[in-house]
Amino acid sequence: MTSEITLNSPAKINLYLDVTCKRQDGFHELCTVMQEIDLCDTITVKVSKGDDIIVTAGSLGNIDGKKNICYKAVLLFKEKYIAKGGKQFAASIAIDKKIPMGGGLGGGSSNAAYVLRALNELFDKALTDDELVEISAQLGSDVAFFVKGGTALCLGRGEIIKKQLDVPVNYYVLFNPGIEIPTPSVYKNLKLTAEVADKIDIDTFMSKLDEEEILLYNFLETSVFDLYPQEKKIRDEFISVGAKKSIVSGSGATVLGLADSEEDALRIKAEMEKSFSGQAWVVKTYH
Ligand code: C5P
Repeated sequence: MTSEITLNSPAKINLYLDVTCKRQDGFHELCTVMQEIDLCDTITVKVSKGDDIIVTAGSLGNIDGKKNICYKAVLLFKEKYIAKGGKQFAASIAIDKKIPMGGGLGGGSSNAAYVLRALNELFDKALTDDELVEISAQLGSDVAFFVKGGTALCLGRGEIIKKQLDVPVNYYVLFNPGIEIPTPSVYKNLKLTAEVADKIDIDTFMSKLDEEEILLYNFLETSVFDLYPQEKKIRDEFISVGAKKSIVSGSGATVLGLADSEEDALRIKAEMEKSFSGQAWVVKTYH
């Protein structure tokens, strides 16, 4: 028994991210809208007889097994699958990385979720969507989002998928200055009592979506700008080169600019590359 499947594992951006409060368990309560975009890693999952789990990532080589989120995803899948009467199996996961790490684009979370999706395909949908979501929540706050995919309003730590949203396709430019921002440091530096002048509430955000307009908002941005002032320079540059709106994606370091069209996005990307060193992409909503 050997079978394999290859899937795209897309990145995400947060179109909207508000923090409601800090919880007793140290996590923050969120109201966020996440959207998959067409910047993708590629994942090949192969299952065969045995019980080994191997995770490799191209030039990055063998990934330190037990700490890797994809390794943990396979372990949790096995646990559930075997408990439901499935047989032990060996899995080898090969990841072709395109999504920058520590970039606020959810690359690791996406990889873990798409490993779960791939395994479930290979085992004829042995687990229900709800079971996959339950496993995902143990892996990270935004893994569950990628199990469902698309665009969704998420609550809790981010792991509660409240509502999937049907949104128009938009073009964005992503700019990553080549730094990795640790998510915990951004949350730790939040000033939860601070008044935010440009705060947008979720109802306003949703009502604009109905009119096919995207408002962008990220409460984490102030904390990111405080810790990494160059992130604000990138955001400001996006606006001065004509992006309709610009925000930091998640906890950074990637900053995104909303473009009018693919052509406009290509122009903005070229301008951004002239102003800063780093990596830029033109991306669109992934369906
Ligand atoms: O769940 P995840 O591994 O993505 O979280 C990484 C870190 O980000 C957490 O350890 C925590 O410090 C912070 N975090 C948070 N509140 C959230 C999500 C993440 O404080 N809702």
